[in-house]
Amino acid sequence: MLAAQAVLERTTDLREAERFIRLFHAENPSVRGLNARLRDVSRDVARYGTYTHTYEELEFGARVAWRNSNRCIGRLYWRSLKVRDRRQVSTAEGVALECVAHLREATGNGKIRPTVTVLPPDLPARRGPRLLNDQLIRYAGYRTSDGVVGDPRNVALTETARALGWRGRGGRFDVLPLIIQPPLGDPLLCHVPGDAVLEVPLAHPDYGWFEELGLRWHAVPAISDMCLEIGGICYPCAPFNGWYMGTEIGARNLADADRYDQLPVVARRLGLDTSTERTLWRDHALVELNVAVLYSFERAGVTMTDHHTESRRFLTHLSKEEKAGRVCPADWSWIVPPLSGSATPVFHRYYDTSVLTPAFVHHR
Ligand code: ARG
Repeated sequence: MLAAQAVLERTTDLREAERFIRLFHAENPSVRGLNARLRDVSRDVARYGTYTHTYEELEFGARVAWRNSNRCIGRLYWRSLKVRDRRQVSTAEGVALECVAHLREATGNGKIRPTVTVLPPDLPARRGPRLLNDQLIRYAGYRTSDGVVGDPRNVALTETARALGWRGRGGRFDVLPLIIQPPLGDPLLCHVPGDAVLEVPLAHPDYGWFEELGLRWHAVPAISDMCLEIGGICYPCAPFNGWYMGTEIGARNLADADRYDQLPVVARRLGLDTSTERTLWRDHALVELNVAVLYSFERAGVTMTDHHTESRRFLTHLSKEEKAGRVCPADWSWIVPPLSGSATPVFHRYYDTSVLTPAFVHHR
């Protein structure tokens, strides 16, 4: 996994490039010179095997990649994505600094800004850098004799960090270091400074004991293992973030049996009868856990949305897209929230399932 692969045979697909340049000009009619740009791009691809996006193309491409994210319910604000062009960064240290700067800028004081940082692309002669972390902020998972301490999802990443010399404190919410794989040479381990990681301790509006559970979550979900593909060019390191929808934390990260598995704990503290499924103790605990997540983020002044509001916004987005003459592709199984699905309007219909580019894609 860590072996450096410096040379790539693949050159940029000229048809993909042309298709993107045409899309950019079709949606940005104030930008002149489509034909000249097409000529330059095809000349560059013939000479160098690739071409370079202008800043405007990059910004548009990244925003459309968000617009095309079939799994994302939060796409109404795709035009507001802030694009940090960091294609000139040339070292692993530089990548680390930009990831930390990304977190600081995207977090603000809790008013979270959807942001993407674009690092160097894969070029025919040289691959771009990569991050081994799947998000910029991840909690360690330590395998112990009585189960995993921390986030079981991150056991492998934790072991990789340890093999590279990281020493975790063994807690349930230890932020993992960034692991950057440059195109040549060894991976770099980078500690994420505490002041770049805003976290929210969880409390419940009605149950004082909830705080004693010692639960918390970080404010910014920043995905860092997907390639940004625009016009035949692949940016393998392009961490991006939005803000959280409460259920991601309350109905998945803290609730899934193979994650923090807190439903039995919450149910016990609520005094529910867990001897039979038919008391719906899991459902009851889920709701209270989600109430706590939404309440705590609100109290901390950190941007978060709830699944009812976001479902309605998604349908607004869908009709806006249709009015603009576009299809809005979506994956029902990801769009429907993991809590009270049928109580949200996104449940009661089907979606176009086309796969469009530009896009954020998993290449690993
Ligand atoms: N579900 C993932 C998590 O809980 C984050 C995915 C992206 N979410 C978002 N709101 N942009 O960490």
